[in-house]
Amino acid sequence: MERGNEHGPLLVIGSTGKTGRRVLEELQRLGESVRALARSTPTPFDWFDESTWEEAVSGARGAYLVDAQDEHAAERMRAFASYAVKRNVKRLVLLSARGWATSQEPELLATEEALKESGAAWTILRPTWFMQGFTEDRTLREPVLAGELRLPCGDGTTPFIDAEDIAEVAAAVLTRDGHEGRTYALSGPRAVGMREAADTIAGATGRPVRYVPISEESYVAGLIAQDVPPEQARFVAKLFGWLREGEDAHLSDGVQQVLGRTPRDFPEFVTRAADAGAWGP
Ligand SMILES: NC(=O)c1ccc[n+]([C@@H]2O[C@H](COP(=O)([O-])OP(=O)(O)OC[C@H]3O[C@@H](n4cnc5c(N)ncnc54)[C@H](OP(=O)(O)O)[C@@H]3O)[C@@H](O)[C@H]2O)c1
Repeated sequence: MERGNEHGPLLVIGSTGKTGRRVLEELQRLGESVRALARSTPTPFDWFDESTWEEAVSGARGAYLVDAQDEHAAERMRAFASYAVKRNVKRLVLLSARGWATSQEPELLATEEALKESGAAWTILRPTWFMQGFTEDRTLREPVLAGELRLPCGDGTTPFIDAEDIAEVAAAVLTRDGHEGRTYALSGPRAVGMREAADTIAGATGRPVRYVPISEESYVAGLIAQDVPPEQARFVAKLFGWLREGEDAHLSDGVQQVLGRTPRDFPEFVTRAADAGAWGP
């Protein structure tokens, strides 16, 4: 077992993704030593290739974890977290999802449970839908570019969260004491529906973007027609169904608890994204 990792780097697993990229930047801004990890990074890390783990975790003192995002995620988390703890990488911060906790489907919390049982000094972050879905995820970005958000969301709303806020929270809990054993639900400051989202993006970009509510069945059929695997299509539709039914509408105060300030609101994100050319010139 390695000893004395107190001065070692912080790992960012999923460092090329929507949150990991920002967690890495935030830790660097704070002057922390970091190690970026994904399958494509100079030091590679693969949840499914344990031969990559030794070099990836060597000497580190903590890690931000974006899980494997498939049916093996909990089993991989269980294996990796105990591997890391044995090598003194004790402070482990998991990106989960608030929807998993409200879903009444215990299997969706299996990754959280695996982490908790590992002996790590764990912290769990449960964010709502990311604002960056509209800029960096096919599911919402492509409809924006097509000018029509054809989604099965009815008049449902959710307090979308800015991934920049998730990153600041993650960096804070990785670098400051007092967050071990805590679960933080993270939301934006206000629930926003798809109609308002479309109108806000249209207003900031000058692009024609409108919301067209459709049925869950036609949404799934549309995804399958675009070669999305049927199981994945139904899962995305289920998530939108929760939003439609109002299960995602409530606010959570994890950002305030950790950072002592209110989270960023949707129009601020849209203005920033539009200025950065996220939806084209
Ligand atoms: N999107 C939302 O609105 C939302 C809301 C709440 C919670 N969440 C949760 O957020 C998580 C996704 O986080 P994110 O959006 O930051 O990530 P992301 O943008 O989906 O990126 C995934 C990251 O994981 C890496 N990765 C993929 N497969 C890997 C493997 N086998 N081994 C090692 N690394 C691998 C990817 O890099 P490489 O491909 O280079 O390896 C990338 O860095 C999910 O757990 C989701 O449930 C999302």
